[in-house]
Amino acid sequence: MANANVMDKIVSLAKRRGFVFQSSEIYGGLGSVWDYGPLGVELKRNLKERWWRSMCYERDDIEGVDAAILMHPKVWEASGHVSGFTDPLVDCKQCKNRFRADDPRIKGTPGEPDGQCPACGTKGNLTAPRMFNLMFKTFMGPVEEQAAVVYLRPETAQGIYVNYLNVLQSSRQKVPFGIAQIGKAFRNEITPGNFTFRTREFEQMEMQFFVKPGEDERWFEEWKTARMQWHVDLGITPAKLRYHQHAADELAHYAKLAFDIEYEFPFGWHEFEGIHNRTDFDLGRHQEHSGKKLDYLDPATNERFVPYIIETSLGADRLALVTLVDAYREEEVEGEQRVVLRFHPAIAPIKAGVFPLVKKDGMPEVATRIAADLRREMPVFYDDGGSIGRRYRRQDEAGTPFGVTVDGQTLEDQTVTVRDRDTLLQTRVAMDQLRGFLRERLGR
Ligand code: GAP
Repeated sequence: MANANVMDKIVSLAKRRGFVFQSSEIYGGLGSVWDYGPLGVELKRNLKERWWRSMCYERDDIEGVDAAILMHPKVWEASGHVSGFTDPLVDCKQCKNRFRADDPRIKGTPGEPDGQCPACGTKGNLTAPRMFNLMFKTFMGPVEEQAAVVYLRPETAQGIYVNYLNVLQSSRQKVPFGIAQIGKAFRNEITPGNFTFRTREFEQMEMQFFVKPGEDERWFEEWKTARMQWHVDLGITPAKLRYHQHAADELAHYAKLAFDIEYEFPFGWHEFEGIHNRTDFDLGRHQEHSGKKLDYLDPATNERFVPYIIETSLGADRLALVTLVDAYREEEVEGEQRVVLRFHPAIAPIKAGVFPLVKKDGMPEVATRIAADLRREMPVFYDDGGSIGRRYRRQDEAGTPFGVTVDGQTLEDQTVTVRDRDTLLQTRVAMDQLRGFLRERLGR
């Protein structure tokens, strides 16, 4: 399968089966903004819940918050985003398109007579690069003036930093400890694309871990390893995962050390999570700009210090794309072609398809009762349309790990068959054991 072809097939499957739709599609779509459909919303929720559980419930040193998207504009001055969160861009004076200055499609030198526009092809019309801030601006209150400008947050992290003291005081945590958050972020990306990989509105799952200076390097290593293991445990193909260390010229303005976790997408290796040593940059800057002391008094040693921060920053949409791409397979089964999404059962949008073998002899009634019973615990899909083979294929394409079929024998001995999506093995299970049987195999 050619790589571009695979991506096209995944995009088309995502739309056809209700994972992802283009935003405002009936109006021609809105550039690089996407909506999740019935299956996509379940996939993303499952990923977010799994992340939240691993951060906030399975450890006792991380607390959760949910900060507002709109923040005091001074936050973004202190964080360095007003001055530093910029991309160098060039404009074409002829066709009015805008490009990143490092766009590989640009030939010649922008600002010089040989600079050639990749869109309209004219030479000499590209401006010299100018810095362009990626933050979306809006106005707060009734007057649209400079004093009323607020930004849509470009990262969720700052909502954690400004609440660091509140959490510390209300939760009785002690350094080292972390704060986790899941929420929307916005960036006016100029070269968005590759489906949901780079979008203008996206969700981040970020955790900021506050440590004593000098202990930061040890914690960085610990989080770097833990985050990679989390993705392996999610079932992502290990050979398609790797670290990428940021070189000095790649480091964000706040970072001393940064590693990306990359996945091999059909369009190449790309980051989907970042682990950053942000030092005391953020708390130091907020302390300076707000005038509020943000240092920590260590009760054990009576030392005062501004904590260093180790950040793990994962895009929920990018992770959803990784799981979709990694799960996608085209296989031959019993002489027939099937498309299957081999999701880890814990993140599959639908956990079981429930099918009466035929639409008679009381089978639909029994299957309906089974579906209702399973629904108390998991999302299931009841389907009595078409041949049983076609119904299995439809659920394979949705990534449903189990198919429960009511057949003639069910009416005699109260057992059903459970078909495994990946092995295709069918196991007979007593109806009254079915919920437990599936629960055990779904994992969390
Ligand atoms: N707080 C640190 C931070 O925001 P980042 O490397 O800019 O770091 C972290 O972003 C993660 O957020 C990325 O690895 C990616 O998963 C996600 N992300 C960033 N920009 C994105 C975009 N335009 N579209 C989708 N996801 C994005």
